[in-house]
Amino acid sequence: MTLIEARDWYRDSLKTEYSNAEIDFYFKALLTDCFQWQPTQLALEPKRELESKELILIQEAQDKLLKRYPLQYITGWAHFRSLKLKVDQRVLIPRPETEELVDWILEDCSKHKDGPKELLDMGTGSGCIAIALAKENPQLSVSALDQEKSIIDLARENAHQNKVKVEFFQQNLLQMDSLKRSFDMIVSNPPYVTVEEKKEMKSNVLDHEPHKALFVPDNDPLIFYRKILEFATGQLLPKGSIYFEINPLFIDELCSLIQQFDYTICKRMDIFGKERMLRLTK
Ligand SMILES: C[S@@+](CC[C@H](N)C(=O)[O-])C[C@H]1O[C@@H](n2cnc3c(N)ncnc32)[C@H](O)[C@@H]1O
Repeated sequence: MTLIEARDWYRDSLKTEYSNAEIDFYFKALLTDCFQWQPTQLALEPKRELESKELILIQEAQDKLLKRYPLQYITGWAHFRSLKLKVDQRVLIPRPETEELVDWILEDCSKHKDGPKELLDMGTGSGCIAIALAKENPQLSVSALDQEKSIIDLARENAHQNKVKVEFFQQNLLQMDSLKRSFDMIVSNPPYVTVEEKKEMKSNVLDHEPHKALFVPDNDPLIFYRKILEFATGQLLPKGSIYFEINPLFIDELCSLIQQFDYTICKRMDIFGKERMLRLTK
C-alpha cells in the first residue's frame, strides 16, 4: 500500500466517525509523531510504498481511531506549549486551558523578577505544568507530586526527555504531611469533574482517560482544593501565591471556601470564555 492509498483508506473507513479534515489531521499526526516524518511527506512522496511495520502501525491506529481512542494515546505523544510529552493511559492528556494557566504564572514571574522561587505542582500527571515552567523560567526551582509511582516514573521520563530538572515525588495529596520546604508558589489542576457530569462527557475521554485524574465525588467536589488550601496554610511563604485550574460550575462555592483561608482572589477565563483559572494571594 502506498502513502496516498493509506490516506484514502483512512478517509473511507473512518468517515462515519470523523470529518475529512479530522482524518487528514490524524493521518498527518501519525506520520510525524510515529514515523518522525515531515508533515509534507504525503505531498512530497504520495506513492511511497509503506514498509510492513509501518503498515501494521497504520492499521492498528485505524482500529483504535474507530474505537475512539484519543489520538495522543495512539501516537504516544502530546504537545504542550513547546514540549513533546510521552503520554499513555496512566495520565490525562494535557489540555490547551492548562497551557494558559502556565502562561499566567510565567507572566507574573516576569513582572516580579526577585530571584529564584520554589514552586510545587500538586497532581502533576504527565508533568506538563511542572516541566513547562521549569523549561521556560530557569529561575524556578520546581517540585511536583502525584499519587502513583508509575505516574511519577512517566513524568520523570518526560522531564529527562525535555532536559529539565524537576524534583518529582510520590505523595497522596489527600494525606499530606507537612514538608521540610516552604514554597513561593503552589499550582494545581486537580481532579474536578463530578460523577454527575459524566453524562455530558464524550466517549473518547470517558472510556480512555484515567478516572482518578478526572473525577471527584458529587458530595464533595472541592475535596482537592480544600486539602491544598489546608496544606498551603503551613507551607506557602507569606508573599506566596496559589494558581488553580477549576471547574467553572463550582466557582462560587470554591471562592467561598477560599475566602475562609483569607486570600485575595483573581479570576481568569480560558480561550473558550469559561472562568477556568484562579490566582490566590494574601
Ligand atoms: C486533572 S489531572 C492533571 C494532570 C496534569 N497536571 C495536567 O494538568 O494535565 C489530576 C492529577 O491529579 C492526580 N491525583 C488524583 N488524586 C490524587 C491524590 N490523591 N494525590 C495525588 N495526586 C492525585 C492524578 O493522578 C492526575 O495526574
